[in-house]
Amino acid sequence: MQKELAQTTIELIQGNITKAEVDAIVNAANKELIGGGGVDGAIRSAGGEAIVQACDAIRKRQGGCPTGTAVITTGGNLPAKYVIHTAGPVWQGGNEGESDLLASCYRESLQLAVENEVNSIAFPSISTGVYGYPTEKAAQVALQTIHNLNDSGTKIPENIQFILFDDATYNCYVKALSDL
Ligand code: APR
Repeated sequence: MQKELAQTTIELIQGNITKAEVDAIVNAANKELIGGGGVDGAIRSAGGEAIVQACDAIRKRQGGCPTGTAVITTGGNLPAKYVIHTAGPVWQGGNEGESDLLASCYRESLQLAVENEVNSIAFPSISTGVYGYPTEKAAQVALQTIHNLNDSGTKIPENIQFILFDDATYNCYVKALSDL
């Protein structure tokens, strides 16, 4: 499924983000930038040591990547030139600023993308695995944030993909994009 906005085409794809042929993929990382499982583990294992070393260097330099912020590294052996690592919020019931922090992950990742001349970017469903954010709610935040940036005239990449691993996640994003 896809939707054209004034500045960008949003595409929903079911698959494995490590295979994405885009300028940058986004990693659902943690604030320490220490490798985990899920999409983070898949990206590090497919991208190789160059990504691990770049994350270690950022951690030494600035302590990590606070929740809601993003950093950029090489894509190593991946088809994508860059990986943008963002730390999503852990779901704590919804009254701890989770939606603002999740929106910030998307805004900061897109801003870093534009600063690095990224025209095509692929996101996973940030925070909806280990971090427990309800997928239906997370999909609404993700797509509404992009919609708002588009409407406000903030520059964003011309192709924004969501690469969603399983049926249930894909279906939540289809519903959220249809409702937008
Ligand atoms: N491609 C696309 N999506 C994937 C892939 C993949 N190869 N592997 C997993 N996913 C999906 C999951 O199914 C889920 O829908 O990514 C989504 C996010 O799940 P997590 O990877 O668990 O991310 P998150 O909930 O943000 O938790 C982050 O988990 O791996 C650790 O280091 C990471 O501590 C951090 C935490």
